[in-house]
Parts: sequence; structure tokens; C-alpha cells
Amino acid sequence: MKNYVYIATSLDGYIATEDGSVDWLSEIPNPNDSDYGFNDFIQGVDAIVMGRKTFEKVLSFGQWPYTKKVFVLSSKLKEVPKEVTDKAEIIAGDIKDITADLNKKGFMNLYIDGGKTVQSFLREGLIDEMVITRIPVLLGSGIPLFGKLDKPIRFDEVETEILDELLVKSHYKITSK
Ligand SMILES: NC(=O)c1ccc[n+]([C@@H]2O[C@H](COP(=O)([O-])OP(=O)(O)OC[C@H]3O[C@@H](n4cnc5c(N)ncnc54)[C@H](OP(=O)(O)O)[C@@H]3O)[C@@H](O)[C@H]2O)c1
Repeated sequence: MKNYVYIATSLDGYIATEDGSVDWLSEIPNPNDSDYGFNDFIQGVDAIVMGRKTFEKVLSFGQWPYTKKVFVLSSKLKEVPKEVTDKAEIIAGDIKDITADLNKKGFMNLYIDGGKTVQSFLREGLIDEMVITRIPVLLGSGIPLFGKLDKPIRFDEVETEILDELLVKSHYKITSK
């Protein structure tokens, strides 16, 4: 039963520009057309929990990219567009209760996505592992991955790889107390 973050950030820690654009990610040269391990990662999770803003961005791509069920955290959205009704579902409430509920339904390993969403899971002590790929670009401003915490959260570094001599992919596990 684990909750994972798997995300790309700029050197200055942003996951998107201020207007939510992730075009800077698709502009990275990818000579071998690699998914940089995303498929292997997704095979190891049972479901994805994402924030409403990330969900809306994914919908804007026009092609649904996920092979696992997506739960969308939102107090504003009441239902998902009909083209994804069998793939995505709206959830709301306390994230501890939400997580416990999903675990009870058999979704044991969860991929948590979206800046605000990751931040709220971190604040509740609900993130076990993070795979963060740093892209060598400074955006100067944008939507941050991390935010305020009540106290430091320590992680052990499991592995760091340099991909295509460009991307730095680090895997962290929460330090056991
Ligand atoms: N670089 C990357 O790898 C990467 C990965 C993922 C996303 N992104 C980008 O990040 C941006 C979105 O991140 P973000 O930080 O702005 O937002 P986000 O976390 O995707 O979504 C925030 C929204 O999620 C809902 N939410 C979050 N926690 C909730 C809770 N505990 N209970 C109920 N609802 C909750 C709220 O929706 P309501 O307002 O409806 O209540 C909130 O406004 C997008 O531009 C996306 O493209 C980048």
C-alpha cells in the first residue's frame, strides 16, 4: 500500500508555466522516443489520483493517455466528460478518508499527480515514494511542485539516473522513522 509521485520539474521546481502550459516538456529532445520508464512505473500502480487542474490539462490533449483508472479530486466538477466516464471518476473530501476508501476498494498503490494535490498528500504524510525528473530549464515562474509544510519531510535517495545526457531522474523513498 503505497502512494507515489512521478513527475517532471524545471530546474527551479515548476511543473508548468503560470498559465498551466507543459509545452516546455514536449520540447525536450527525445532522440530515442523513450517514455523514460513511465510505462514500467504505471504498471506498478492500481490507480491514479489527480487534481482537477491536471485532469483538465490531460483532457485538453484530446487523447486519453492512461491505462489505469483515474480518480479526479475536485469540489467544482460533479461529473467527467462522457468520453471518459469509464476511465475517470470525480472524488472529493478528506484525502486520508479518500485514500483509505480507495485502498478498501482494492486500489492499493496510487499515483498522485498535480502540484496542489501532491502538496496536500505530502502535508498529510501520505506520500511514500517520489520519482522526480529534473529538466534543465529555468522557467522563472510557474506552478510549483512543492509548497509549505508544517515540518520537514525527509527522504532517502534510492537511485539517480541521467537520461539522454539531459534529464536527471531521481527516485526517493520516505525515510522510515
Ligand atoms: N510537469 C509534470 O510532470 C506535470 C504533472 C502533472 C501536472 N502538471 C501540470 O500542473 C498543473 C496543475 O497543477 P496544480 O497544482 O495547478 O493543480 P492540481 O493539483 O492538478 O489540481 C488542483 C485542484 O485539485 C482539486 N483538489 C486538490 N486537492 C483536493 C482535495 N484534497 N479535495 C478536493 N479537491 C482537491 C481542487 O479542484 P477544485 O478547484 O475543483 O476543487 C484544486 O483546485 C497543470 O498545468 C498540469 O499540466 C505537470
